[in-house]
Amino acid sequence: MKTTETPLHPPPTERLFFRTWTKNDGALAISLWTHLEVMRHMGGVMTKDGALQRLRREIDRQEQHGIQYWPIFLREDGQFAGCSGLRLFHEDATTLELGVHLARSCWSLRLGEEAARAVIDFAFTVLDAELLVAGHGPENGNSQALIERLGFTYSHPSPWGEEQILHPIYRLERTAAGPKQ
Ligand SMILES: CC(C)(COP(=O)(O)OP(=O)(O)OC[C@H]1O[C@@H](n2cnc3c(N)ncnc32)[C@H](O)[C@@H]1OP(=O)(O)O)[C@@H](O)C(=O)NCCC(=O)NCCS
Repeated sequence: MKTTETPLHPPPTERLFFRTWTKNDGALAISLWTHLEVMRHMGGVMTKDGALQRLRREIDRQEQHGIQYWPIFLREDGQFAGCSGLRLFHEDATTLELGVHLARSCWSLRLGEEAARAVIDFAFTVLDAELLVAGHGPENGNSQALIERLGFTYSHPSPWGEEQILHPIYRLERTAAGPKQ
């Protein structure tokens, strides 16, 4: 159960730290969500205004639900590494959806996996979630590989985005992720 002492975001990992988005993070939001390669499998690039709207949505989600796609940074030098976190799943607002958006400069180091494992642990042990879901664009084999490495199993296809493209959805139950700490 969430209390006033519930942490706002997952704790640091070996190479990353999390924090919450602030309204001063416009430049980071734009660098991530307007990037052609990063956004290739996520509906294409956003406009600068779209990225700033997304930033405001993330801030609102933290205020309303205590979750967001938290920004992540390299512990070594503070470099912005993207975001990873949770949101309410559009098909069922009682279920949390896991997501990872790594900045281009941080690919190929399995940092998405490191961030996602911290988010999963936070969801099950701090937020008391019973079930997580994750999805990926039909052509996003790298995301599929990550979701499977994390222990999710395929569930069903679900329409996503303005064009309602079918995305495979996977699920991970708390019991499958190990006993509650
Ligand atoms: C896909 C992703 C979640 C995988 O996380 P991860 O396995 O921990 O991260 P890595 O950075 O080690 O990526 C694994 C491979 O995917 C490749 N990759 C990641 N995103 C890619 C993209 N959009 N287009 C092409 N290749 C991509 C990386 O170059 C890497 O390739 P390599 O192993 O041959 O070097 C992460 O790379 C990412 O956030 N990518 C951009 C945004 C995205 O697509 N998110 C998923 C939304 S469903």
